Amino acid sequence: MHKEENFQTVTLIAGDGIGPEVTAAACEVVLASGAQVIFEPVLAGMAAMEQTGTPLPKNVFQSIKKHHLVLKGPTQTPFGGDYRVRVEMENAQGQTEVRSHPSVAIALRKELSLYVNVRPIRNYPNVPSRYENIDLLIFRENSEDLYTGQERMIDANTAEAIKIITASATQRVTRFALDYMRRLNRQRLTVGHKANVMKMTDGLFLKTAMEVAKPYVDIQMEQRVVDALCMELVMKPESFDALLLPNLYGDIISDLAAGLVGGLGVAPGANIGADCAMFEAVHGSAPDIAGKDVANPMAAILSAVMMLRYIHQPQAADRIERALSRVLADKKDITRDLGGSVGTRQMTAAIIRALN
Ligand code: NAI
Repeated sequence: MHKEENFQTVTLIAGDGIGPEVTAAACEVVLASGAQVIFEPVLAGMAAMEQTGTPLPKNVFQSIKKHHLVLKGPTQTPFGGDYRVRVEMENAQGQTEVRSHPSVAIALRKELSLYVNVRPIRNYPNVPSRYENIDLLIFRENSEDLYTGQERMIDANTAEAIKIITASATQRVTRFALDYMRRLNRQRLTVGHKANVMKMTDGLFLKTAMEVAKPYVDIQMEQRVVDALCMELVMKPESFDALLLPNLYGDIISDLAAGLVGGLGVAPGANIGADCAMFEAVHGSAPDIAGKDVANPMAAILSAVMMLRYIHQPQAADRIERALSRVLADKKDITRDLGGSVGTRQMTAAIIRALN
C-alpha cells in the first residue's frame, strides 16, 4: 500500500500580508512533526484577486468540498467602500446562485456552514503577559448577527445594517460549546450579550442559550452584559472559564483576550461545522509587518495543532506543543513580540529542531 493512502489532505490558503509567512511556518512544522497530512495549496485573497479577478475562485470550494479540512492564513479586507466577495454556489434546487459576503473569511465560514469559531486563550509559559493563570475558551457564533453583510446606504449620510439572531443558530452554537466543554471537563460558561438594549436580538440569544443549557446540569451558566464583561476580563481574566458570544462581540473580545496573554501572535482558532473545519489564527494580515520576517508564527502553528487534534493525530500535536514550549523556555529563538529578536523563519527552524 502506498504510504500516502492514510494521509489526510488539507486545503491550504496562505492568505495575504503575513499569511504566507506564518502558514509556511505552520506547514513546515506540521510536516516535520510526522503528522500524516498533505497540503493542497489554493489561492484566495488579494493574490487570487490579482491573478483571477476574484478573491475566492471556484477551485477553492472544489478543493474544500473534497477534503473538508482547511488551514487558512489571514485574508485582507479593505476598510469601507463597496468591496464584496461574490461566490457562485449551487442552491438546494441545483440552480447556480450568486451570493456576496463582506470578506473572504466570512464567505468561507458562511458557505461552508462553519457555525462556531473556537478560540482558546491561555497563558503560555515564558510568553510575557500582565496576567497569570488565564485559561479561557471563547465560542463565537460564526454565521449571523451583524456579519451577514446586509448593509445599505439609505442616503448619502445615513447607513443601516441588519442584525440577525435566530434561535436555531444560537441553539446549535450553545450545544456545541456545552458538549465541547464537557469533553474537557470545563465547568462554567458565561454568555456575553447586550440584551438590555438589543432586546429582541441579544434577548433571543441569551434566552435561547440559557434554555439549551438547562439539561447540562454539570455546567454552570452565567451571563454578563458585554461592556461589563470587557471590564471584568481586564480586571480578573483568570476568573473566567469559557465565553459564549454572538458573532460581533466574539470577534472583538477574541482580540481583547489575545491581548491578555501576550498578543495576537499567540492566539489560535478553529471554525467548525458539521462536516468541515477551517483552522486559522485570530490575527489578521498585519500589513504593517508583512514581508519583513518578523511575524510570530505561534498562532498559525497552534491553529495547525488544533487541526491535528481535530483529525485525531494527537501525537503529532503533542510533539509540536512540546517543541514550542522548549523554544519559549529557551528564549533564544523567539520573535520580537515575545521579547526576542529573531525572525519568523528562525523561530520556526528552532521549533523544528526541538521536535522529538
Ligand atoms: P491584524 O490582526 O492584522 O493586526 C493588528 C496588530 O497585531 C498589528 O500591529 C499587527 O502587526 C499585530 N499582529 C498581528 N498578527 C501578528 C503576528 N502573528 N505576530 C506579530 N504581530 C502580529 O489586524 P488589522 O490590522 O486590524 O487587520 C489587517 C487586515 O487583516 C484587515 O484587512 C482585516 O480585514 C484582515 N483580517 C483578516 C482576518 C481573517 O482573515 N481571518 C482576521 C482579522 C483581520
